[in-house]
Amino acid sequence: MRIHDPSIVGKLAELHVELQYGAALSDLTSLGIGGTTDLLRIKKHESLPDLLSLLDVNDIPHKFLGGGSNLLVGDGELPWVVLQLVRPEPDVVLDGSLARVDAAADLGRMITFCAKNDLGGMEGLIGVPGTVGGALRMNAGAYGMQIGNYVREVTLYRSASRKVEILRGDQISFEYRHTSFAPDDMMLAVILELPSKPYKEILKGIRICNEKRRSSQPLGQKSAGCIFKNPPGASAGRMIDELGLKGLSVGDAQVSDRHANFFVNAGHASAKDMLALIAGVRERVQKSFGVSLENEVVVWNA
Ligand code: EPU
Repeated sequence: MRIHDPSIVGKLAELHVELQYGAALSDLTSLGIGGTTDLLRIKKHESLPDLLSLLDVNDIPHKFLGGGSNLLVGDGELPWVVLQLVRPEPDVVLDGSLARVDAAADLGRMITFCAKNDLGGMEGLIGVPGTVGGALRMNAGAYGMQIGNYVREVTLYRSASRKVEILRGDQISFEYRHTSFAPDDMMLAVILELPSKPYKEILKGIRICNEKRRSSQPLGQKSAGCIFKNPPGASAGRMIDELGLKGLSVGDAQVSDRHANFFVNAGHASAKDMLALIAGVRERVQKSFGVSLENEVVVWNA
């Protein structure tokens, strides 16, 4: 979707929103898949309510993009514009055991910065690409921990009230790769309360998690992490592997040889290829195990 109206373009500039015409979402997602649309980069978080009213009044649909690392975007010209927060400097401010973090902060850099200041707890998420806002929305987790356990407070734009609101951690439910945020709420900032630990000890944990990840996941390839959620008490990756589906492909979309729940873009895969691969694998798992796998990856299909 393109914004042509000069009066809207002028208002965007007044709101400190940078407009990138016809951005390729394939350049903004870790899968390297996705069509084109206008990208609105928000330099001042405070302008978000006015920006959303402007889009509303002009019937311009939108979606919020974080780091693009858990996302499969449709092909071609997309029927909505994409909003993204510009990362402010500094994006992490420490106050004792509290870390105030901007939603646009890079997750890995935030974990490392806190670690250097003797704040741990998040070691399991090292190596997970994406922003802190994206990790929060999905309640990202790995190696027995999840980000939700450390959330003291979240500042977000709530689409229901059309206001910026602050929620305490205990007002939000954090479940396995799921939270009580509405799909069109936008994360703005979070306060994490992290346990004090000496840097050396945190570093040990980080190294162990890094090693486990390197040995079991296709880190050098374009992917969106795990495609399916693990069903209760089972492993999607193991089921797909047991069916001998590693290496299965549709066009350049391929089940990873290394981890069967990672689907990689081995060249120039389209969303259509990737969606066909996902549907095919889901069907085979359903047939053989009687289990209906649920997507873990977020799909923005036009
Ligand atoms: N397995 C296989 N073959 C495979 C992959 C896995 O047999 O191709 C087996 C493993 O040997 C192991 C079991 O399945 O016995 C579980 O595998 P793994 O330890 O790799 O964990 P997972 O359940 O597949 C989950 C998360 C990952 C997270 C890891 C580590 C989900 C859907 N996945 O994977 O998160 O990194 O645990 O904690 O919950 C993601 O969210 O995108 C993601 C990759």
